[in-house]
Amino acid sequence: MGDFVVEGGQRLTGTFAVNGAKNAALPLLAAATLADGPVVVHNIPLGIRDVQLMLQILRTLGMRLHSPAPHVLEIQPPTRLETTIPEALMRQMRASLFLAGPLVARTGRVTVSRPGGCDIGVRPIDLHLKGLKALGAELEDLPGGRLVVSAPRLVGRKIYLDFPSVGATENIMMAAVLADGETVIDNAAREPEIVDLAQFLTGLGARIYGAGTDTIRIVGVRRLSGGEHTIVPDRIEAGTVAIAAAITHGDVEITDMVPEHLVPLWRKLEEMGVELIWQPGGDRVRVRAGPRLRATTARTGPHPGFPTDLQPQMVALMTQAYGVSTMVETIFENRLKHAGELGRMGARILTDGRMAVIYGPTPLESATVEATDLRAGAALILAGLAATGTTRVVGAEQVERGYEDLPRRLAALGALVRAA
Ligand code: UD1
Repeated sequence: MGDFVVEGGQRLTGTFAVNGAKNAALPLLAAATLADGPVVVHNIPLGIRDVQLMLQILRTLGMRLHSPAPHVLEIQPPTRLETTIPEALMRQMRASLFLAGPLVARTGRVTVSRPGGCDIGVRPIDLHLKGLKALGAELEDLPGGRLVVSAPRLVGRKIYLDFPSVGATENIMMAAVLADGETVIDNAAREPEIVDLAQFLTGLGARIYGAGTDTIRIVGVRRLSGGEHTIVPDRIEAGTVAIAAAITHGDVEITDMVPEHLVPLWRKLEEMGVELIWQPGGDRVRVRAGPRLRATTARTGPHPGFPTDLQPQMVALMTQAYGVSTMVETIFENRLKHAGELGRMGARILTDGRMAVIYGPTPLESATVEATDLRAGAALILAGLAATGTTRVVGAEQVERGYEDLPRRLAALGALVRAA
């Protein structure tokens, strides 16, 4: 296990260019199995561990992969796709479940394992399975947590999601593009990554309408061709760096991003007294924070609510704000573990179930803390930037699951962060 070592007290300044979104890249790679011809993907964060794992899975399915330049990937489909995903790979990443929808649509049968991933709650897959079943797939549980999904032919249906699950919306969308007839997903997730996936699939010849709203209509087609796509910027990476700028009272311009994707974060930062400069339709945001931050309240929610993937980083920031802040986590039932780790650094945070009450500002001090999951790890790095002395974040590989080369890129802004 690697660690990150952070020396606190540096004010971040400069420019940070955002990479393509991990959460768009993962479903897109799964969707590439639907294409009959070669696919070229630009702005793909190839250095992220979860993306590397997905590439390994694609290789075992028979796909040929080549990266002619940084952040560019060429994917060549085989004449015949394998249909069993190795259990060891599947278990390491929840997103591998994304392959169930496209592979059953393309080949009629797929064996997956009930997935692993972040330790932030139970994370059932019932909505994925309910959707695939509604399209006509049969499910058969095998010993060892393996699951066979099969259907000679999928048939379009009306599907209502009890919760706007991002992964279930994507999985059903990928299955439905090759189904007979029309599928309508009601109460669909509206995240920008859903829109990105729909745009990719549409570029291959799929007929998808309404992505980005809560009703998505998909008219099945016989086949999808190859194509080319540029992945949407990573709003969570952009938001993490914006919070890093705020927590160090810094001045950072974040570029190559879509400011509109982060409006809930901008509102909260403004409430805390952070100055933000951006133009609608632009590709950058300047984040400037003075010495005094104010407490605020936030509550995570499905897009366009406050993103759960920025909740831990925001809690870290709240420890530095004057007054009592509250954070309510509504998406995952066990996503406040970082509160305890921040406490080891001197933060005063009370938690009760899904709610955290943060008393600030508290000086943060050097400590050894553990990255219990990907975004919690990011939050601890940010806390380390604001702390006096040296913070050791144990579990660097958690952070590497979702951020490419974060220490080097933060160091370019003046942070003293390194892998150890
Ligand atoms: C995606 C993101 C993740 C983000 C999350 C919420 C990817 C690869 N990951 O995860 O970074 O934190 O959206 O924005 O895009 N649920 C069910 N049954 C299901 C599916 C989900 O009950 O079948 C529940 C989950 O347990 C969770 C909630 O719905 O409580 C949200 O999950 P979902 O939107 O599906 O998140 P993911 O797609 O797993």
